[in-house]
Amino acid sequence: MTQKQPGFDAFFTAITTSPEFKSAMTKDWKWDSLDALEASLRQMESWVEKAADIMKNFDEKFNTHLPPTWATPGATPPKTGNPQDESKTPPAVEVQHFVRKEWKPWGFEAVAGMDELKAELQDSFIKPLRFKFLVEKLKKQSHPELDSGSSVNKESEKAKEDNEINSVWQKNNELILRLYTEYEKFKISIPTGMLFYWPPGTGKTFITKKLAEELGCGFISKNMGEFGSSYLHQTTKNIKDFFEWAKKAAENEPIILFLDEIDSLVSKRTTNVDANKAEEVSQFLQEFNALESAPNLIVIAATNRPDHLDSAILRSWRLDKKIYLGPPDTVARRELFKMYIEKAGRPSESLDYEELAKLTEWYVSADIEAICDEVARDASRDLLELIDEAESGTLTEKHLDGHVITMDDVKQTIIDMPSSLKMVDMSIYDNWLEQVQ
Ligand SMILES: Nc1ncnc2c1ncn2[C@@H]1O[C@H](COP(=O)(O)OP(=O)(O)OP(=O)(O)O)[C@@H](O)[C@H]1O
Ligand SMILES: [Mg+2]
Repeated sequence: MTQKQPGFDAFFTAITTSPEFKSAMTKDWKWDSLDALEASLRQMESWVEKAADIMKNFDEKFNTHLPPTWATPGATPPKTGNPQDESKTPPAVEVQHFVRKEWKPWGFEAVAGMDELKAELQDSFIKPLRFKFLVEKLKKQSHPELDSGSSVNKESEKAKEDNEINSVWQKNNELILRLYTEYEKFKISIPTGMLFYWPPGTGKTFITKKLAEELGCGFISKNMGEFGSSYLHQTTKNIKDFFEWAKKAAENEPIILFLDEIDSLVSKRTTNVDANKAEEVSQFLQEFNALESAPNLIVIAATNRPDHLDSAILRSWRLDKKIYLGPPDTVARRELFKMYIEKAGRPSESLDYEELAKLTEWYVSADIEAICDEVARDASRDLLELIDEAESGTLTEKHLDGHVITMDDVKQTIIDMPSSLKMVDMSIYDNWLEQVQ
């Protein structure tokens, strides 16, 4: 039986007294119309996502894995995850698999701007990897002993017809394999590591997740600050265990390994005065550079403080590409406004997106998303004000009119919400790469 760990009670109380938890417990769900059903499901979905975040936090904080130490005796623990994992060593993080949802744009469709980067990722990763995985699949299929599902019932009436179809497929597959052999002759290697070092709120995490969606591969995200432990040598062990686990996970499928806030671990030695830190950094580099033996792992490291990275470390670091993107340009900003208002299906009058883009020079993607959220919240407030009429049965058709986002609303919100880059010293990005190379 697992023991209750210190700090558990406070954690438990924080969850069970949170507004989301209380609200979920008392909510009067409605599904008497399609709209009500959709609204209820969306609400549940957002809470499930929140619960997943809390559980992730729980696992990391208590170094445990579900089913956790919830629990007053006799209480039924909430079940998530795979019960078969119980006996295994608890992983530090999970491999996520993104699931397509009808109402949300998928993959690069959801990414405004960043055209050059998207094209680069298409050419460097997406196309070569899709090709590679297709060929691996075909090779496996051409060895039926490796594929238990391929036994053909020769006795069936349709066998002859099937054979004809099969031979067309086989011919097609042979051509694909030959095409790949031709491609391989060019000896193009797929990059295995990239560093994104652009300012906060400009989509480093976002584009990486969208790349995972495009590739349909697994996604592991690890914030480098989370390796830290106050126990001597424990951080070094955490790093070692983590990479070992990630490599193992990538034996079965391609995985994007996203190492966020890389500066918090691999930082300037001038600030790493203690030997422990040097040991951690060295362990990290050793593990990182050993990832050559895991061809299915695509590593993307991110930082918005490149100036905190040690240049010597950067040179010894196996990162094929170092990529900088500035804040979104006018075209990208126009697309962002369109994406978060029009494409999101928010009711609006006809907006001059060109002008909105011009008004938001130096705003980052996250700022524009936040402006659109805020303006939508403001515009919808009038609807909520109608609750008295709704309850007293005095609603009329007229009440339904005119609830749209207007150009003036957006312009005012832009004035109220200045660019978050105001707080950022942009000079740290100027020519950083040239300086460290
Ligand atoms: N190109 C984009 N198209 C559409 N939305 C975007 C784009 N870039 C960013 N966003 C939105 O902005 C939000 C913030 O972006 P994200 O968290 O990826 O920034 P970041 O660069 O990782 O910031 P930080 O350095 O603070 O971690 C995303 O959740 C996403 O909704
Ligand atoms: Mg981020």
